[in-house]
Amino acid sequence: MHAHSSGEIPPASFRARAFPAVETYGFVFAWTGDPERADPALIPDLSRNDSPEWAAVRDYIYVKGNYQLLIDNLMDLTHTLYVHKTTLSGPGVNENALDVTVDGDVVHGERVMRNVDPSPIFRAALGINGKIDRWQIVEYHPPILAVAILAGKEPGTVENLDVPTHILYSLLTPETERTTHYFWSTVRCWAIDDPAVSKTYYDMTCVAFAEDVHIVEGQQRMIDDDPRGSALAYFSHDKAALEARRLLTRKIRAEAGVAMPALAT
Ligand SMILES: [Fe+2]
Repeated sequence: MHAHSSGEIPPASFRARAFPAVETYGFVFAWTGDPERADPALIPDLSRNDSPEWAAVRDYIYVKGNYQLLIDNLMDLTHTLYVHKTTLSGPGVNENALDVTVDGDVVHGERVMRNVDPSPIFRAALGINGKIDRWQIVEYHPPILAVAILAGKEPGTVENLDVPTHILYSLLTPETERTTHYFWSTVRCWAIDDPAVSKTYYDMTCVAFAEDVHIVEGQQRMIDDDPRGSALAYFSHDKAALEARRLLTRKIRAEAGVAMPALAT
């Protein structure tokens, strides 16, 4: 007969790996790196996602693609012209360059479009059909958060950047090299008790993101089917996406203690 004391620790092979986790802003953040280095202060401010002043619509998509392909997508909103014709597309995106900066551990891109026709989502949500001023801000916070801060306003009011029409949070949790858990939330600070506006945002975001997933899963299949393993090609519209990949690579190498080679910018 074996006498096991109740305090005995089972061997490692019998133990499930535990990850430090924090529940905040309506999300659960798990730290999959060295537990000693888990720091809740590194979580970006997503307080608008569960603030009583803001309304949110949100959902989850399982994506058969690498999470960095989704970050590429979210950091280049020129794709909206080609991929989201019935929802997010609108003139001015191609004609106005994205102003990209890297500030510490955040990639920031900003584009202003003056006196343009509204995209379908602005027509539907705001009920406006005349010309608008639009602006887009995209941010990448490594490793898994992309933020799009979007506005459509009366022409001439574009300088007021304080109050966006809506903000889109995309949290991209890698499952494997080729699969991602995509958690999204669209928040706004106007008509927060209006279920019709919420339904418009929810329905249009679902349509648009199904289109994105279709593209990203196609990209992943092309990558997997390329026997030469060709490097990804980047174009001028991909500047923010490229900076996001550089920043992520730099962070991964720093955590692994590997020096980063100098990169031309
Ligand atoms: Fe998209």
